[in-house]
Amino acid sequence: MYVLGIETSCDETGVAIYHAKQGLINHFLYSQVDMHSEYGGVVPELASRDHIRKLAPLIKQVLQESHLCSSDIKGIAYTAGPGLMGALLVGAATARSLAWAWQIPAVAVHHMEGHLLAPMLEENPPEFPFVALLISGGHTLLIRVEGIGNYQLLGESLDDAVGEAFDKTAKLLGLGYPGGPKLSALAEQGKPHFTFPRPMTDRPGLDFSFSGLKTFTLNTFNASEKTGQDKADIAAAFQIAVSETLSIKCKRALQQTGLTRLVVAGGVSANKQIRQALTEMAAKEQSQVYFPRPQFCTDNGAMIAYAGCQRLLAGQHQDLTIFARPRWPIAELSDCGIISNSAKT
Ligand code: KG4
Ligand code: ZN
Repeated sequence: MYVLGIETSCDETGVAIYHAKQGLINHFLYSQVDMHSEYGGVVPELASRDHIRKLAPLIKQVLQESHLCSSDIKGIAYTAGPGLMGALLVGAATARSLAWAWQIPAVAVHHMEGHLLAPMLEENPPEFPFVALLISGGHTLLIRVEGIGNYQLLGESLDDAVGEAFDKTAKLLGLGYPGGPKLSALAEQGKPHFTFPRPMTDRPGLDFSFSGLKTFTLNTFNASEKTGQDKADIAAAFQIAVSETLSIKCKRALQQTGLTRLVVAGGVSANKQIRQALTEMAAKEQSQVYFPRPQFCTDNGAMIAYAGCQRLLAGQHQDLTIFARPRWPIAELSDCGIISNSAKT
């Protein structure tokens, strides 16, 4: 069964084809980063308009380059939320219309479930159950995962998401958009002689807070001479503080749940230092850590095609309604009834 996946929740237009038995066939991504960087962040209206321009040609391309025609596609998976409403509607309306024209089911996929399942596209996918740390531009979530759709929220950010904290900190250091990768690159040239707080690690619980860290960074920057080296040193101290905070909370989540597998996904999981810190922590805890390849940490169509395929295999799909939810708590998702990777066969 070939499934077409469509991702348009923010500033990347992603398409992919996933086959239930053969795995990922092909995927393409068009990033709007250059367009938004002029404005220092994502402009929602421009994002929607650009998805409209790019989505249909990308769908045509992925079919052509996979040597498939529309009649080969047996289901369409689209990101229905959370995300920017206008951007979501482009993907949802396109997916729903194609599914109607092709007389096949369309399934609404939760964007964060897509991220959560992205490591399933790798050679050595995790078995359920596991703890998932989802770190993106809009979310910081710690989840106990028993199976697809069986999610128990263990902790979340009470204010800024990790990616948001990276982006805002990068902005105040005068780095451009998107801030996360730029701050991370600058941090490599820094010496972390500043000591930044590890927020909410001195009290029990699995929630996060990153807005204080951002303010601490601003105050440190204002008190410095604001040289290039100061910026790099501050970036390095910020990145270490975030890595250690995530590592402390993940260790706590593993100990609290008694689980020995940790999945880390979402845009910020592309960060080398965070990957290294979590890998070292997991090794000390006799646990395994699973990341998507860096390309599938950030938004992409492949993770949506995979997640949608699993739900279609479980007999789930939506009616003709165009379904889009800018806010959509992941714990509201229904259990897919799939608790092993055997769903692929
Ligand atoms: O998952 P994603 O592509 O989109 C959302 O669902 O939000 O995540 C985007 C976020 C942005 O905040 C971006 O700055 C951050 O991920 N990000 C990074 C890195 N690559 C992307 N943050 C830190 N280091 C990176 N290497
Ligand atoms: Zn995302």
